[in-house]
Amino acid sequence: MVSGMTQSHPRISKAVIPAAGLGTRFLPATKATPKEMLPVVDKPAIQYVVEEAASAGLDDVLMITGRNKRPLEDHFDRNYELESALQKKGDAGRLAKVQESSDLATMHYVRQGDPKGLGHAVLCAAPHVGHEPFAVLLGDDLIDPRDPLLKRMVDVHEQYGGSVIALMEVEPEQIHLYGCAAVEVTEDADVVKVTGLVEKPDPADAPSNYAIIGRYVLDPHVFDILRTTEPGRGGEIQLTDALQQLADDEKIGGPVHGVVFKGRRYDTGDRGDYLRAIVRLACEREDLGPDFRTWLRSYVTEEM
Ligand code: G1P
Repeated sequence: MVSGMTQSHPRISKAVIPAAGLGTRFLPATKATPKEMLPVVDKPAIQYVVEEAASAGLDDVLMITGRNKRPLEDHFDRNYELESALQKKGDAGRLAKVQESSDLATMHYVRQGDPKGLGHAVLCAAPHVGHEPFAVLLGDDLIDPRDPLLKRMVDVHEQYGGSVIALMEVEPEQIHLYGCAAVEVTEDADVVKVTGLVEKPDPADAPSNYAIIGRYVLDPHVFDILRTTEPGRGGEIQLTDALQQLADDEKIGGPVHGVVFKGRRYDTGDRGDYLRAIVRLACEREDLGPDFRTWLRSYVTEEM
């Protein structure tokens, strides 16, 4: 028996990862390489995101891609030529690294065509997802694997139903970079009820300093809403606007709750944060960390 059948809300098995963005902030690196393939230490950023989905029990991953994104499909596929070369050399360590990314989850791909915004990207997942609740993971947000967020969101969804978003408190002057949620407390210390949402508000109009970060567990009714959601901020179809409608009318798709995340998150879509992510993760690696930390310490004290 599937354990989820004893729960009051269906178990989530599908993850959707929008990955159609042009990555203009990283030009020229992203001229011919998808931004999702930029390495964070020695793994492409997108692999951390797929690993996060898999470790939360989501083994069916749909990527929403676009032109020039073929390397993503290759990365999560087998590479027999490379595997047999490594096998012949007897290099079991590197062989395992090559095979790791193709063994993580069952991968599916759909192209977005017109880049009409995050809401539109999520709507492209409707035929694959069907009528089940599902997760959305944005590739620019890297959540440190030691601070599992998605697993907690899946648990909160099983408890409360509806949709669950990830929230993080930010400085008021940063809120214009994010979707922002008006919230009420619940009995769970890290869970809030979302009463309103606004995409990238001016600080003066922001209902709180709770920023939406790129993890969502969504009720499938969101697709019906997205089909009629008008372009919003930036002329794009915004997922935040569709969630606002879910929060507004609990009869369609249930309530919206937020999990307040206090762990480590890096925005790999921002060059400064991307560098910080690499330095932090490299420092903490068992293989690279000791040497790298020694070098970093002397670099900072002697050269800065
Ligand atoms: C998107 C969402 C926004 C959210 C952000 C998190 O914006 O529209 O609500 O706060 O991701 O990273 P983007 O950064 O893609 O413009």
